[in-house]
Amino acid sequence: MSTPSIRGVSRVIRGMPTSDGAGVKLTRVIGQPRLPDLDPFLMLDEFGTDNPGDYIAGFPSHPHRGFETVTYMLDGRMRHRDNHGHEGVLVPGSVQWMTAGRGIVHSEMPEQQEGRMRGFQLWINLPARDKMTAPKYQEFGPQMIPATDLGGGARVKVIAGQVAGVTGPIAQPATDPTYLDVELEPGATLSQPLAAGHSAFLYVYEGAVRVGAGESAATVGTHELAVLTDGDSVQLEGREPPRDGTVNRAILVAGRPLREPVAKHGPFVMSTREELIQAFQDYQNGKF
Ligand code: FE2
Repeated sequence: MSTPSIRGVSRVIRGMPTSDGAGVKLTRVIGQPRLPDLDPFLMLDEFGTDNPGDYIAGFPSHPHRGFETVTYMLDGRMRHRDNHGHEGVLVPGSVQWMTAGRGIVHSEMPEQQEGRMRGFQLWINLPARDKMTAPKYQEFGPQMIPATDLGGGARVKVIAGQVAGVTGPIAQPATDPTYLDVELEPGATLSQPLAAGHSAFLYVYEGAVRVGAGESAATVGTHELAVLTDGDSVQLEGREPPRDGTVNRAILVAGRPLREPVAKHGPFVMSTREELIQAFQDYQNGKF
């Protein structure tokens, strides 16, 4: 392997306003024309609003097959219910890492009638060999997600991966994901190892963060996603936040690319067109 290298920024992308489910307004960051995918990541949606009209209709009954959906709630409550009898409520700070495998049909509905709803849903592909595994959940409340204070105004919640010896609760050997919720006061820094060869991005949801070192460094603003260049670590620095009382907050996500053919349509992500047709047929015949 080459000598150690610090990741820079290859592109900065803003999300695209869209709606999904029964009319939930959200911002699609990965999975839109400017960034169709970032193998193994298929989609990243940010939802965030104080207006119940933007989210109240929720995501009624819909299927998934062949990949994983990761929901990370920042504010608000979402009730989840599937056709295998699994049900739960995602509260602020909780994560649901759902391996759809060979198929689930579920609904994701806001539990609240008013107030702020905010969070992310990330779709991660599964390798061909795992697409038809049994559905599985890794679901953790906020008290189960370790937070580490690195000093100097840098704090990290470790959902997946490792930060300064603190390991997140999620296990997924196929893509070996890192999923960190990073908080940086102005001037606070974080130097984080990320496996070389893994795809990686930083999405800033409050304030602004300086990413990288030297010529390839860039400042990433609120609601912007930075695709990182390859390397074995990333350096982040919090900028002056735009408003008093806020800090800089971002998710830092990385994973091993699968480099496999992808055949996808709506809620099905398979390897071939034949498997995609099979998925539609199985869903219509109630085999999920
Ligand atoms: Fe879903």
